[in-house]
Amino acid sequence: MRTQVAIVGAGPAGLFLGHLLRQAGIDAVVLERRDRAYVEGRVRAGVLEQVTVDLMDRLDLGRRMHREGLVHTGTNIAADGELFRIDMAALTGGASVMVYGQQEVMKDLFDAAEPRGVKVIFDAEDVALHDIDSAKPHVTWRKDGVEQRLDCDVIAGCDGFHGVTRAAIPAGVLKTFERVYPFGWLGVLADVPPCDHELIYCNHERGFALASMRSPTRSRYYLQCGLDEKIEDWSDDRFWDELCLRLGDEAAGRVTRGPSFEKSIAPLRSFVGEPMRHGRLFLAGDAAHIVPPTGAKGMNLAVSDVVMLAEALSEYFLDGSEAGLDGYSARALARVWKAERFSWWFTGLTHRFPDRDGFDRKIQVAELDYIRGSRAAQVTLAENYVGLPLV
Ligand code: FAD
Ligand code: PHB
Repeated sequence: MRTQVAIVGAGPAGLFLGHLLRQAGIDAVVLERRDRAYVEGRVRAGVLEQVTVDLMDRLDLGRRMHREGLVHTGTNIAADGELFRIDMAALTGGASVMVYGQQEVMKDLFDAAEPRGVKVIFDAEDVALHDIDSAKPHVTWRKDGVEQRLDCDVIAGCDGFHGVTRAAIPAGVLKTFERVYPFGWLGVLADVPPCDHELIYCNHERGFALASMRSPTRSRYYLQCGLDEKIEDWSDDRFWDELCLRLGDEAAGRVTRGPSFEKSIAPLRSFVGEPMRHGRLFLAGDAAHIVPPTGAKGMNLAVSDVVMLAEALSEYFLDGSEAGLDGYSARALARVWKAERFSWWFTGLTHRFPDRDGFDRKIQVAELDYIRGSRAAQVTLAENYVGLPLV
């Protein structure tokens, strides 16, 4: 088999890139280790920046999102039970975010893939990259016990944090930067109405909590938890009790309890691998960088990466210029690091750090109080939260 771009991974980065290249008339094949049901079933992101909303529209995939998604023009911060609202639209000249689950985005991308000729090969085992330093790289994998080979001009590594593509960059070339946080997020999905029409990011002595949603009848809640904690120890009752304590009386009074149908613990990490290119391999999304979910940036960064990569690949295949490919890593990283900074900062502002002392806590409380009273501080928060422009 031969193609122009071999894309490894059919998460948001890989599938958006597949659609973008298809739209530009560039031939691509997406190789995915799991099946469609698995990729679509993972409960992950919930908040789309304008960049992501725009891309859905540009690909003519936005109809269901505009019908079912929820436009949020503000978000809330609770400090020890007292709420204040960040009016994102008023602070940014009209920007907003869209609450529409990653699962729904993936469904829309997969549904449109076959009719539009975006080729996806599922259950591709043992994907390996070869000759990425040369002008003729290739990818091998096994499917149904049979070895397969795909020759290509370029490989896009979109296989997430635990994928194989980043590891193909020689250790002496790849520089990594990392922060591992001493806590995780316990997430719950339940078919109950959300406690607020917007999100609530909650700083509490007992730890961070987040009230989010998927629809007017489906709530998504998170609690900061220890890394050694086990799902089995968190009954629904314990979860709701702890959530209500952290949210404070005002929001807790509006919480509707109900049986959860998904419960999981995710560790928090900041990570960047640079450069995002080696030879004919280009990394995008979680394969290159991870942010703690506090800023709701992970999937949106995957999207901004592939928008930039698709532009560079179009310049290369359609105009014969390598300038875009040469500039890709620096251009993508400039936006990535700003989102890393915001996600790290927002995590520090809202979480309880077991290794920090009373001084740190006082500083945190003072900063929250400052944000509550300062339009300048709120503008900074809002413009980062809705997403920085693509430059
Ligand atoms: P992935 O989604 O990880 O996709 C990679 C794909 O590659 C997978 O399908 C995988 O099966 C496949 N793969 C892996 N290895 C191989 C291999 N060897 N061969 C072939 N295929 C392979 N982001 C936001 O923007 N907003 C949010 O509100 C938000 N909330 C989050 C909440 C939680 C609890 C979590 C865990 C994440 C959240 N994120 C959020 C982050 C977001 O989900 C990720 O950043 C996003 O999924 C990254 O997309 P990706 O395509 O780069 O990687
Ligand atoms: C979510 O709804 O899953 C969600 C929302 C906001 C975040 C992280 C996750 O910051």
